Amino acid sequence: MEIIVNNEIKLRDWRKSDQKRLASLANNQHIANFMMDSFPHPYTKKDAEEWINMCLKETKNPLFVIERKGELIGGIGGHIKDDIHRYNAELGYWIAENYWGKGVVSQVIEKFCSHLFSNYKINRIYADVFSTNPASGRVLEKNGFIKEGTLKKAGYKNGLFIDLLVYSKLK
Ligand SMILES: CC(C)(COP(=O)(O)OP(=O)(O)OC[C@H]1O[C@@H](n2cnc3c(N)ncnc32)[C@H](O)[C@@H]1OP(=O)(O)O)[C@@H](O)C(=O)NCCC(=O)NCCS
Repeated sequence: MEIIVNNEIKLRDWRKSDQKRLASLANNQHIANFMMDSFPHPYTKKDAEEWINMCLKETKNPLFVIERKGELIGGIGGHIKDDIHRYNAELGYWIAENYWGKGVVSQVIEKFCSHLFSNYKINRIYADVFSTNPASGRVLEKNGFIKEGTLKKAGYKNGLFIDLLVYSKLK
């Protein structure tokens, strides 16, 4: 499956052949600092292999490569929740540090959210953003997400309790 974002950027499914480039781009402390611990640092070829194998088996959650001019530059995914939260999707995304600040993720989120609302039975998309990550809050706000509130010291990252900012967008 592919989602065209603009004439340079598209979203596509993960492939086995992404392993080497994923391991190389994702092995960056500046990215890992703002991600869940399931995005480790260091990020090894084995981590990349495990991630891609998981994506290839995934049937419920949409998980895509962000590709620019035919090259992998990052990833975006939605985790569809269960039980009373089953109409919610949690958003996760990252791009390689060389591409930060060029408007890529702002555009990608717009297309990805439209895809989620059109193709999945969900009513709300949300993200828990570390309070230390204003760029992520900004890309969400630019896409109509509202900051609902702060979960005080709800996360534990790199040995510190951190505040999480809950951003959401309703269908
Ligand atoms: C956060 C991240 C996804 C943003 O992607 P990006 O493609 O660089 O984002 P964009 O260029 O589309 O937009 C960034 C916006 O944040 C703003 N910004 C950047 N640094 C900022 C800062 N320190 N304070 C406030 N705003 C900031 C930019 O000015 C821009 O807003 P503008 O268009 O109004 O000028 C990217 O930096 C990344 O991959 N970070 C590491 C992983 C991560 O944080 N993932 C999200 C976890 S919730």
